[in-house]
Amino acid sequence: MANRWDERYNTKEFVFGTQPNDYLCQVVQHIKPGGKVLSLGEGEGRNAIHLAKLGFQVDCVDLSIEGVKKLNEWAKQEGLQDKVKAFVADLEAYEMKPGYDAIISIWCHMPSSVRVKVHAKVVKSLAIGGYFILEAYTPKNIGRGTGGPQDADRVLTADILPDELTGLKTVKMEELERDIHEGGGHNGMSSVIQYLGVKQA
Ligand SMILES: C[S@@+](CC[C@H](N)C(=O)[O-])C[C@H]1O[C@@H](n2cnc3c(N)ncnc32)[C@H](O)[C@@H]1O
Repeated sequence: MANRWDERYNTKEFVFGTQPNDYLCQVVQHIKPGGKVLSLGEGEGRNAIHLAKLGFQVDCVDLSIEGVKKLNEWAKQEGLQDKVKAFVADLEAYEMKPGYDAIISIWCHMPSSVRVKVHAKVVKSLAIGGYFILEAYTPKNIGRGTGGPQDADRVLTADILPDELTGLKTVKMEELERDIHEGGGHNGMSSVIQYLGVKQA
C-alpha cells in the first residue's frame, strides 16, 4: 500500500459514502453550467460523480491509487468515463492546467507548507470568474472524535485562509458547527470552515 489512504479505501465500502458533500451542493449553482472543474483530493469519487451528473467536466487528483481505482470503476458503471478524469498525483508537485471554472477542496487537508503552495496554484489555475470551493475542519475539531485530522498543522481557520488565496475575492467564508454524516468517515457535530471565493480580472 502506498499510503494510509490506500489502506482506508481498500474496501468495498465507500469511506465517506456515495452522497456528495453538503457544502458543495449548497454552492454548486455558482459554477458556470457545463464548466470544467478540478477536484483536489477527490478520494473515491462521490463529489466528482455528482458534478459529472450535473453536466460538468471533472478532473480529479488524489494521492491514492485505491481511491482513483474506485472512482474510475464507479464512473464507468455510471457511463461517465468521458466526463470524469482522475490522476494519481501529489498536489504539491501537480501542475494544474489553467482555465478551470471551479476548483473544489473538500476535506483535502495537507501540511501547511504544502497547502500554501497548492493554494497559490489554485489561484493561478482558475479562469477569471472561476470559483474556489473549500470545506475543511478547524482546530476546534481536534480530539472530538467526529472526523478530520488530529494534527493542528493540517486544519484551517478564517484567519489564515484568505492570505493563502491572495488573488481571489472572498464571496463567503464562515467557521461553523455542523452535524456531518458522510459514510463511516465523518460522523457527528463538527467544527468546520466553509469558503467560497472568485477570481476577478
Ligand atoms: C478526507 S479525504 C476526502 C476525500 C474526498 N474529497 C471526499 O470528500 O470524499 C482526503 C483526500 O485527500 C487526498 N490527499 C491528501 N493530501 C494529498 C496530496 N498532497 N495530494 C493529493 N491528494 C491528497 C487523500 O488521498 C484523500 O483521498
